[in-house]
Amino acid sequence: MKKKILVTGASSGFGLLLAKELHKRGYNVIGTSRNPDKNQSSLPFKMLALDITDDKSIKSFRKQLFTEIKQLDVLINNAGFYLSGLAEETTITQGKQQFETNFWGTVMLTNELLPYFRNQRFGKIVTVGSIMGLISLPGGAYYAASKHALEGYFKALRFELNEFNIKVSMVEPMWSKTNIVTNSKVAENKISDYDEYRTTLEDYTKDLLSKSEEPTAVVETLLKLVENESPKFNNPVGKGSSLFPAIQYFSFKTFENSIIKNINKFKK
Ligand SMILES: NC(=O)c1ccc[n+]([C@@H]2O[C@H](COP(=O)([O-])OP(=O)(O)OC[C@H]3O[C@@H](n4cnc5c(N)ncnc54)[C@H](OP(=O)(O)O)[C@@H]3O)[C@@H](O)[C@H]2O)c1
Repeated sequence: MKKKILVTGASSGFGLLLAKELHKRGYNVIGTSRNPDKNQSSLPFKMLALDITDDKSIKSFRKQLFTEIKQLDVLINNAGFYLSGLAEETTITQGKQQFETNFWGTVMLTNELLPYFRNQRFGKIVTVGSIMGLISLPGGAYYAASKHALEGYFKALRFELNEFNIKVSMVEPMWSKTNIVTNSKVAENKISDYDEYRTTLEDYTKDLLSKSEEPTAVVETLLKLVENESPKFNNPVGKGSSLFPAIQYFSFKTFENSIIKNINKFKK
């Protein structure tokens, strides 16, 4: 029987590429979007409406999902967005919105589906975190916090679901060429004291983003996790994705100095 795979945020970026590839490989794929009709006619897999920040949307999505399929083999928690800006310049409302989507939205959807996974006594949950869930860089405090929170949550869940033969993993990509920047939100509360540092940081970030990698490696890793019987918990992807967390862990000072040195190169 074809494995049934749910991919959230399948309208763009990693989610879209992954859903297309899974469909090509013969899986029964269900994708989600807040506007599922927008691209449905050009997609080979079924798209369902889902806003992970909205409890009503999650409940009606769950009903629709289980009329489409009778079992769920894999949940890929991919939906999310990027909030950029200095911590103090980010309003608390914006910070909460970042958590509403990246953390609470992901957790709420997972929770809604857990009873089905438990009843089946099998399944797999793969969540797209970020390298920013393992390290933290200036200009992305709330994004990093939301992704760190996911790491903590799913690490505990991995132990708890082991009892039920449900595998839990994370994927931690480096910057990749998707629509994440176009869809990002920016800190609204500019404080003049930060003007110089903000400009330097913007140039540093632009340079980082210009070195973004193709999303192929992330999609490949997700495919391997779908097919692997015993997936690892952490799966960093991209150049330096294993090195940076390791340096930070063994010598935070070395990590910190190298980041500061790189940022200072962009000082005017
Ligand atoms: N690209 C990178 O450099 C990078 C690096 C590390 C981690 N990530 C993570 O990878 C994941 C996918 O991002 P991407 O890079 O592929 O970005 P993207 O191209 O902007 O795609 C984001 C997807 O998330 C969905 N989404 C956003 N908010 C949603 C909500 N409230 N409810 C339901 N769906 C929502 C969007 O669907 P609709 O707008 O159609 O609803 C879209 O399909 C995110 O979790 C992101 O944090 C990305």
